[in-house]
Amino acid sequence: MALSSWLPRARAAPAEPRTVALSAAPGRAALLGDDATETAIWGYDGRVPGPEIRVRQGEPLKVVVDNRLDQDTTVHWHGIRLPNAMDGVPGLTQPPIRPGERFTYSFTPPDAGTFWYHPHANSLEQLGRGMAGVLIVEEPEPVAADRDLVWMLADWRLTRDERIAAGFGNGMEAAMAGRVGNLVTLNGAIPTDQPVRAGERIRLRLINAALARIMALRFEGHRPIVLAVDGQPCDPHEPEGGRLLLGPAMRLDVVLDLQGEPGKRYRVVDDFYDGLSYPLTVLAYEAGPPIREQPPDTPLRLPPNPLPEPDLATAERHELTLEGGMMGGGAMMGMGGMHGMATPGMDGGAAWAINGVSMTGDGHAGMPPLFTLQRGRSCVLTIRNRTAWWHPMHIHGFSFRMLSRNGAPILHRQWSDTVLLAPKDTVECAFVADNPGDWMLHCHVMDHQMAGLMTVLRVA
Ligand code: C2O
Ligand code: CU
Ligand code: CU
Repeated sequence: MALSSWLPRARAAPAEPRTVALSAAPGRAALLGDDATETAIWGYDGRVPGPEIRVRQGEPLKVVVDNRLDQDTTVHWHGIRLPNAMDGVPGLTQPPIRPGERFTYSFTPPDAGTFWYHPHANSLEQLGRGMAGVLIVEEPEPVAADRDLVWMLADWRLTRDERIAAGFGNGMEAAMAGRVGNLVTLNGAIPTDQPVRAGERIRLRLINAALARIMALRFEGHRPIVLAVDGQPCDPHEPEGGRLLLGPAMRLDVVLDLQGEPGKRYRVVDDFYDGLSYPLTVLAYEAGPPIREQPPDTPLRLPPNPLPEPDLATAERHELTLEGGMMGGGAMMGMGGMHGMATPGMDGGAAWAINGVSMTGDGHAGMPPLFTLQRGRSCVLTIRNRTAWWHPMHIHGFSFRMLSRNGAPILHRQWSDTVLLAPKDTVECAFVADNPGDWMLHCHVMDHQMAGLMTVLRVA
C-alpha cells in the first residue's frame, strides 16, 4: 500500500476548465461478469457506469455531450448547485439534445462531494438502460484515507436471456413501488469480492443510481461512519441501527476502518425490503498482518461547503403534500377532480400529485411554478407524504438543510438534495433561494416522477 496516499494534500483548483467529451450511445456491458453474455445497454461513452468525472472544488468543468442515441437526451448534474441553463431539464432549462447534435455544459461546481449525472429526457428508460455516471468534486484537503472507493449501485430488470426487460412505464408499477429490478450491480457488474487489508481506512462513496430500488446496507462486523450526505458534509456519525439507508439518487460518503481479522470474509447485506435481504458483496480480507493496529486518529470532519444558512425566523413557508398511488386511501383514489388525473394503473396516466397537481414526464416548456421565491429569500418547506409508498424527493439547484422528521429534529447537521420519505412521513427542510431560475422538484423513483410526482419552483 502506498503510504504516500495517506497524507491529505492541499491542492488548489486550476483556472483552466477541465474539458470532457461524453457521448450518449448504445453499447454492451458484461453485467453478469466477464464470462457471461453481454447485455445491450445505453450508456455514456456506451459504458455502464459512464466515465467517472473528477474535478477539484472550484475547477471549471466543460462537458461536450454528443447524442448518438436515436432519441432526444439531456444531461442533468444531480446535486450540483449550478446555473439554471446548465441543469439539463429539456424544455425547462434547455432544448433537448436531438440525435446527432451536441450540447456543451459548462459550470464550476461550488461544493466538494459525491455527485452523479444522468439524463433528464425519457429518464425512466434512459436511466433504466444504464445511462449514469459519477461526478466527484474533490475537497482541497480531503479526509485522510488509504483508499477512496466509489460504489455506484444500479438495479436492472433482466430477462432470462440477459436482455433488459421491456415494459418501461407500466402503469401499475408507476402507482406502486416503481420498476424494481432483479439484478443489482456495483460499478456496472454483479459484485465480486472486495479485497481489503486489515487496518486500512477506506473512504467509500455510495451512490444509489437505481430507478426505484431503495437500499439499506449493513457492513457485518464493521461500523461505518457517515461523513457526508448527498455530497454535503455532516457531523461524522454512525448511522441509525448501523444501516446505511439509500433511496434512489441518494449518496453517502462513509469512512470504513477495516478492523476485521486477516483472512476472514464479512458480508455487506442489503436488507431494506422485508424478507428480501441479500448479500450485496463481501469484504474479503487478505491474509497479511494489519497495516496498523489501531484506527488512525486523524480527523473525519470534511471541510464545509459554501452553503448559505437559511434564516428560519424570516423564512417564507410552503407545504408540499404528496398524494396518490395504490392503496392511498386519500383524496386521490377514485375521487376524481385531480387535474390531469387518470385512474392510477392506466399506462401513461398520472398516478400521483403534489398539492393536487400532476406534472408528468421529464420536464417541458411552460411548466407553471408551484410558487415563486424572491432571490435571496429563505424558505422552509414542509413535505407531507400522504401516500402508502416511499418517495425520495429531490430538488434541483439547491441542497436542503434538514430540520425535522415527524416532529423530531434531524441530527448531525445534515443537508441533502434527495430526501427519503417513508409512508406518512412529514419532513421539514429549508434552503436559501439564492439561485435564479425554474427548478424541478420531484420524486426520484423514476416511474413516480413520470406519473406526476413532480413540480417546479421559481426563483426570480
Ligand atoms: Cu437526479 Cu431531476 O434528477
Ligand atoms: Cu437533480
Ligand atoms: Cu415516489
